[in-house]
Amino acid sequence: MNSEFRPNLKNHYIPIPEGALSIEVEYKAKSSYPVVPSPSVEGTIGSKIIAPKYSQEQNETWNKMYEKQRVLVQDHLCEEYINGIHHLKFPLDKIPKLADSSEALKKCTEWQVIRAEGLVSPVNFFALLANKVFPCTDFIRHADEIDYTPAPDTFHDQIGHLPMITHNRFAEFFHLFGIAGSAAKNEEELMWFNRIYWFTVEFGLINETAHKGNNRDPKLTRIYGAGIASSCGEILYSLSDKVKKHPFNIDKIIETDFDIHHMQDQLFEISSFEELETEFRNWARKKDFI
Ligand SMILES: [Fe+2]
Repeated sequence: MNSEFRPNLKNHYIPIPEGALSIEVEYKAKSSYPVVPSPSVEGTIGSKIIAPKYSQEQNETWNKMYEKQRVLVQDHLCEEYINGIHHLKFPLDKIPKLADSSEALKKCTEWQVIRAEGLVSPVNFFALLANKVFPCTDFIRHADEIDYTPAPDTFHDQIGHLPMITHNRFAEFFHLFGIAGSAAKNEEELMWFNRIYWFTVEFGLINETAHKGNNRDPKLTRIYGAGIASSCGEILYSLSDKVKKHPFNIDKIIETDFDIHHMQDQLFEISSFEELETEFRNWARKKDFI
């Protein structure tokens, strides 16, 4: 990536899909901002990001969430996610610095973190992914929202997303997603990318027997989606019988609506990250996005 690359996070706008705006309103109302904000402007990349100063209570919120989440990781998250956690070495007792996480990520897949102050418009988000940078916030939810927040905070961004981006095949898919998404020409196409993102990056499951019909083994299902990985309630719920699991199928995904405010009642299972990347590439070619 060109080190002079500075995405303009404000000047582009494509209508945000229905539902997303309410996330922004809620997070503004409820998030807990650092005691001393980062002096780094939005758009600062990698090791140049200066950490804000957090209160003891904010670091304790991180600690409580991470302690609770890591108990569930071994039995519920996929091995690629667990390997990512080992690479990133998040501290337990305090909110990790974006610069440290970015450097650890760079060593694995050459992706970097870029400091964002909130939701990024789809156009800019695709452009960032296409440049192998992932936008992360540095604020954390209020202590009374430990179990659920509809808004992305630094726990969701770092614990949820970064581990998977340390995995080469997932990172290739994510890069391609940014390139293909940048070619979306209208709201319908944007909605397709929104749904693919939701049912893979945010709420994706993996099971090597996903496509084996009656011989599928439900005990093999593991989580890789960031929205599930960063929510203890979703981790347990997503693997329960209450959620219908479909074999991964992009044509079906783009026809499937979702609800951001409730637990998901249907999810899609990939059989491998090779399948995710290959199927997405084939679909994007078929639709002329790449
Ligand atoms: Fe997310």
